[in-house]
Amino acid sequence: MADDERAKAIGRRYGELAESSSDLSCGGAAGRACARPGETCLDLGSGRGGDVLRLAAAVGPSGFCWGVDVSDGMLERARRDAERLGVRNVGFLKSPLERIPLPDASVDVVVSDCAINHAADKGAVWAEIARVLRPGGRFVVSDIHALADVPEELRSDPRAVAECWAGAVRREVTLAAVRAAGLAGLEVLEESAPYERGGIRIASMTLAGTKPGGGGRKGEE
Ligand SMILES: C[S@@+](CC[C@H](N)C(=O)[O-])C[C@H]1O[C@@H](n2cnc3c(N)ncnc32)[C@H](O)[C@@H]1O
Repeated sequence: MADDERAKAIGRRYGELAESSSDLSCGGAAGRACARPGETCLDLGSGRGGDVLRLAAAVGPSGFCWGVDVSDGMLERARRDAERLGVRNVGFLKSPLERIPLPDASVDVVVSDCAINHAADKGAVWAEIARVLRPGGRFVVSDIHALADVPEELRSDPRAVAECWAGAVRREVTLAAVRAAGLAGLEVLEESAPYERGGIRIASMTLAGTKPGGGGRKGEE
């Protein structure tokens, strides 16, 4: 599947969902990140921006929360809600997750909920998470995984990938990519029972970990 076909299918699906209120998450990543005053957070695949706004409240005026997404509809909705609610310590950036438009070591906490499964190069996303985290920073990521390799004809179907199931990889593949990116202290915080989508078995998992180095959480150093 060409990258532009995947991007178009994702843009179409999430453009339609931007004004809906349907639940698009598959775990509780943002809530489990325990963001603290003064921290800088980043939500990958931030969608309508609800988690960014909640994290912004947790980090307070001395902190900041970025959201990154590729969908114009989602970004517009998130910016509009932030403006309406008068939330100033947030920013929404349009970019694929494989190229996060933030400097090295500039983020304390990365969260993501049900988004990385859409990325064509998941290893590159994890490498970007490791790059933007400051040493000692942490991540909490909820996403789906497949119980067996997804057949090629489904993996290369743009619509099935956009629907949040055919882009899933096996849990071991994710764990290997996270470790290859140099992230450590991995902990599975929650995991759903397996369920079926499009004839394949998937489940969701919330994974936490840290970027080695630094002296721990901001404020404790
Ligand atoms: C299932 S929704 C989840 C949204 C939000 N995290 C939530 O829990 O409500 C997936 C989001 O990821 C975005 N997305 C999908 N593929 C992406 C990519 N390659 N780069 C950046 N964002 C992407 C979509 O536009 C969509 O907003």
